[in-house]
Amino acid sequence: MRKNSILLIGVGLVSLTMANGCAQAQAPKAGVESAAFGTTADGKAIEIFTLRNAKGVEARVMNYGGIIVSLKTPDRAGKLDDIVLGFDSLAPYLKGTPYFGAIIGRYGNRIGHARFALDGKTYELAKNDGPNHLHGGVRGFDKVVWAAEPFERATERGLVLKYTSPDGEEGYPGTVAATVTYTLNDANELAVDYAATTDKPTPVNLTQHSYFNLAGAGSGDILGHQLMIAASNVTPVDSTLIPTGLLAPVAGTPFDFRTPTAIGARINVADVQLKNGKGYDHNWVLDRKGAGLELAAKVTEPTSGRTLEVRTTEPGLQFYSGNFLDGTIKGKGGRVYGHRSGFCLETQHYPDSPNQPSFPSTILRPGLEYRTHTVFAFGVAR
Ligand code: BGC
Repeated sequence: MRKNSILLIGVGLVSLTMANGCAQAQAPKAGVESAAFGTTADGKAIEIFTLRNAKGVEARVMNYGGIIVSLKTPDRAGKLDDIVLGFDSLAPYLKGTPYFGAIIGRYGNRIGHARFALDGKTYELAKNDGPNHLHGGVRGFDKVVWAAEPFERATERGLVLKYTSPDGEEGYPGTVAATVTYTLNDANELAVDYAATTDKPTPVNLTQHSYFNLAGAGSGDILGHQLMIAASNVTPVDSTLIPTGLLAPVAGTPFDFRTPTAIGARINVADVQLKNGKGYDHNWVLDRKGAGLELAAKVTEPTSGRTLEVRTTEPGLQFYSGNFLDGTIKGKGGRVYGHRSGFCLETQHYPDSPNQPSFPSTILRPGLEYRTHTVFAFGVAR
């Protein structure tokens, strides 16, 4: 008996098994699988979980940093490609990366002068970005090992990640118990649910730091991607990327993405904010109607047709155009990640909120629960 396995491209991921001339279509196997992915320097076993949906979309997530290692979605011909930057093995993640694919905590983005005052007391945080504190400090939530529990339901499957951050970690007060849940459904949506509680008042601002390239990770820069951001204002920053505290209208500036515009169309124009960010590296103040899940951004990559919609309950969105990528990182498959070869859309509260009384508060108090919800929805434009 002769068997041939054929992968048909163009009709999604369908595998045909030819046995004695009989063709039998097999639906891709949706579910969650786990495998060993290495060991940390202090001997902790790292696991990688493959979440696959009924259409063959596949997200691989590890319990180190809650990092999305790869994410395969179809292009307009149905061809799957990995659309996030990252590495093939654990070792380069342990050496340090610009937060590829990671969960960020306790505080997404910067806190000015690595310091804040809360209820009359000043807290000093790690200075890991010039004079400032960035993405939770030297060892933020992106560099810790999370307890991971996979789950499967009828049309969705995912991974529940838990981490308890001890009182005083990276200078923050309070013991924070955080839960981040990734859920991949059969509508090609990857949801990220964030929850946290604390035993002392403390800032909490969690986000996800995937670098996307919808043409495929390592295939070049992202300047041709068409971006829409549903925001009429940004929070302008100083030269160390700390918000001035003002809201600036985007109208008439290179920051106006209210109608879809190529990321590269205005990125090099003379503009003090673009200079401060070395490109786009700013918080957009989302035009929200209420407190529910609302469209924050939509990206279309013209050659592949891939689209990404970001929906969130958060008030802000950090659009970072990969300005610090400089071609020195070799990622998956040996591909070099050049300047602006990936972009991040980080749903969040505004940077430096603990020092900015006019910004929405990021202080979590005992007895209350922090809960935010973000969905990355993948599609194609015909
Ligand atoms: C920040 C950038 C930073 C990057 C980390 C982004 O969220 O806004 O300034 O360089 O993360 O690589």
